[in-house]
Amino acid sequence: MKNRITAEIYDLHVEHYSGDVIGIATSTPRLSWKYTDALKSTNKVEIKVIRSMFGKVTEEKTFIVNPKNHLLLAWPDTPLASREHVICSVRVIDDEEKGKWASNLEFEVGILDYFELQAQFIGSSKLTGETDHRRLPLVRSKFEIEQQPVYARLYLSALGLVEGEINGKKFTDNILTPGWTDYNHRVTYWSFDVQSELRAGKNVLGFWIGDGWYRGRLGFKGGKSNFYGNKIGVFAQLELGFASGERKAFYSNSYDGQWKVIDGPILESNLYEGETYDSREEIFGWSSADLDDSNWQPVAEIPYNKKKMEIASLEPIKAREVHHPISITKLGEKHGKSNWLIDFGQNCTQRVKLHVKHAEKNDVISLQHAEVLEKDGSISTRPLRRGYQLDKFISNGNDELFEAKFSIHGFRYVELRGWRGDLTSQDLDTTVYYSAMKRTGYFGSSDSTVNKLHDNILWSMRSNFVSIPTDCPQRDERLGWTGDISLFSKTASYLYDTTNFLMNWLKDVSYEQSELGTVPFYTPYVPLAEWSTPQAIAIWGDAVVRVPWTLYMASGDKQVLCKNYEMIKRWIEEVRGYLSPDGVWDRRPRYSLGQLGDWLDPSAPANNPVQAMTEKELVATAFYARSCQIAMRSAVILERDNDTDRYRKLYKHVVRGFINRFLKKTGEMTSDTQCAYTLAISLGLLDKEPAMKEEAGIRLANLVKESNGKISTGFAGTPYILSALTETNHLQVAYDLFMSDKCPSWLYQVKMGGTTTWERWDSMLPDGSVNPGDMTSFNHYSLGAVANWMHEIIGGLRQIDAGWRKFRIEPQPGGGISSASAVHETPFGTAKVSWTKENDKLTVKFTVPYGSEAELVIPGYDMHSFFGGKYDMNFSLKPTH
Ligand code: BGC
Repeated sequence: MKNRITAEIYDLHVEHYSGDVIGIATSTPRLSWKYTDALKSTNKVEIKVIRSMFGKVTEEKTFIVNPKNHLLLAWPDTPLASREHVICSVRVIDDEEKGKWASNLEFEVGILDYFELQAQFIGSSKLTGETDHRRLPLVRSKFEIEQQPVYARLYLSALGLVEGEINGKKFTDNILTPGWTDYNHRVTYWSFDVQSELRAGKNVLGFWIGDGWYRGRLGFKGGKSNFYGNKIGVFAQLELGFASGERKAFYSNSYDGQWKVIDGPILESNLYEGETYDSREEIFGWSSADLDDSNWQPVAEIPYNKKKMEIASLEPIKAREVHHPISITKLGEKHGKSNWLIDFGQNCTQRVKLHVKHAEKNDVISLQHAEVLEKDGSISTRPLRRGYQLDKFISNGNDELFEAKFSIHGFRYVELRGWRGDLTSQDLDTTVYYSAMKRTGYFGSSDSTVNKLHDNILWSMRSNFVSIPTDCPQRDERLGWTGDISLFSKTASYLYDTTNFLMNWLKDVSYEQSELGTVPFYTPYVPLAEWSTPQAIAIWGDAVVRVPWTLYMASGDKQVLCKNYEMIKRWIEEVRGYLSPDGVWDRRPRYSLGQLGDWLDPSAPANNPVQAMTEKELVATAFYARSCQIAMRSAVILERDNDTDRYRKLYKHVVRGFINRFLKKTGEMTSDTQCAYTLAISLGLLDKEPAMKEEAGIRLANLVKESNGKISTGFAGTPYILSALTETNHLQVAYDLFMSDKCPSWLYQVKMGGTTTWERWDSMLPDGSVNPGDMTSFNHYSLGAVANWMHEIIGGLRQIDAGWRKFRIEPQPGGGISSASAVHETPFGTAKVSWTKENDKLTVKFTVPYGSEAELVIPGYDMHSFFGGKYDMNFSLKPTH
């Protein structure tokens, strides 16, 4: 019988990694894969597992499993040991036939037990003062091996930052290793396969070490340096296996005399402020075997509790693309040296790569980075505050390539100073960096301005997904503000697979929550100015509930909820204590700023973003109600029956309190603002009160009309206002608001030439000047949460069930847009919708991944369910009266 097996398997992966990975953090990794076709009832799945250790195969086995368990299938074999390597493949079979094997997946366990981490953190033995302008050391170690190893792993970490070389060559393009964690609680280490870098004979491991987040200056209002420690160091554990079966290991340490240190050419480097590189101080061949290193000093150990070392379980920060100058302008010349303004066309997190030419010895070439230009065309540095973003290169007179190592900048423009000769686009470009997550979401439409907005949203996400989710990538801040990601995580998880990235960050949030007794304003937490006493504030604190829920919905992985459940509970229970007896959160926080509420409401004065129109207790209670609902749902999923009951009651109590306190008998709200109605509708507070909900929708639509189609929400209301209008049948008003380009609006930013989303609606004022507020970033993702509405309503792709097991296709055309598409790579495969509208004719093409279900909703037609496959359908949209 033919065609018994039609489904092939693709995208086999382990946990939430995409593709092969070295150094996973579990001995029982879960496997997932996707199907190209529907399964037959007789189909089964065969899994082949080849295990090896130090390059030698130890076992080969196969397992037969139920093909339906293809998402996060529990590890079918006995637990893996540290360092065990697996080659795995999967195919569909039945009793008589066998399908094609999927491409092999390879993964390897990292070192799971801290006591196997035998290396030490080592660094300079010199005494360095408590300044943050210190020269950075180079560390090297020479060792000899008889043959080239068949297996070589380098486990690498740093207190500070590290970039490594072997025999004069970089072995990875990861940057800013090991990334930012709350180093008081944990530091991660990264695993590298360096087998091909090593050779028989003498070899050298060399490391650049930088201040990074560990001891570099962090944060605003002067910030803090040496926050985690005063001494930086590298941790390197090199493990080798040879064809003979012999094994060898080299550990960074201060006792065997093999590890040496010297001052390197980086005179100082700060993530925000910039780096100064003195090429006159270069040591030629510093990481190669031929160097005479007799003048190098012995290293010192930097003590750190190894129990706090963890396998890195998120994607590394990597080069993602290159930007070339789109314009180069000469600004002036003096004594043979000139200044230039270079526009790279895109604001984002990147670094310049400069080919230094014609420089004379002792010339100082500097690079001043900025996001925007002032009205007079000069580079705008004021908004950077102390995050100067100024790199300097001191020349030794030779041609050289320069790119900062331990500094990173958010910019579009560069002013290059002290250059000799002409400057052309051949002389410099930029490398864009962010955490290398897998892209999963796309959107397009017939409207190029709308598409540009979506593109800008993507860029603000990328710019701020560098090791941790930050508010902004340029000024002296760059902190993991909990509120920003609380609002943006849903959009983020549509665009990229953020599971590993955000789970990693949530670990630190959880540590800090236990320690501080509440959710900090930002994680990793550094006490700064008026933010020195952590207090519970809504939206920001709600991140501990909202972010895990988003990740669970995106991935369908219950473990995500399970791992974060205690944190969710702690927040719910804490805030329960701040409720008045009627269920409204109005008893805390008691400190200068109070709740941040609808932060950056456009009516608030430029220098007082917290002075929003909407009552803060209203905002706080609305978000808390939503958190209680999520807590209740999480308890149901995790089968915590007592909690389910407790949170159901609490949720009802808070909703009641909200309605009683903030909705007047007349149907108006006590805060008669766009934000108030938006939250009441979108956060589900009126779901049980359809008449009130309808009224609220009407009032919201009227408020928008009364404001001449201008938005007047800040952080809290903006992500939801269009959904609130859509949900209450005011689609036209939603589109009018969305398509407006008057200030403030989303498209205003596009009209003003923005290439990212801004912190303020008017970070650039209509006359082209930079907003005078001292908090003006051009690269914040929070207002970009509107992309969620774009995907769901314009694109017509909306998730229903966790993991996209079920979703809805419901394009809701408007705003003069005649076609659009939305694509998301779900755990089942690619979900895709594209539609075109011509007069009354709507054509909808869509793809439903195998294993999932889509319901198609078109006005005037019955709803239908569709399963795996591709569809192309036409509808006639009769005008409704
Ligand atoms: C940050 C934010 C943050 C806010 C909280 C700002 O300085 O940039 O995005 O959420 O402070 O008040």
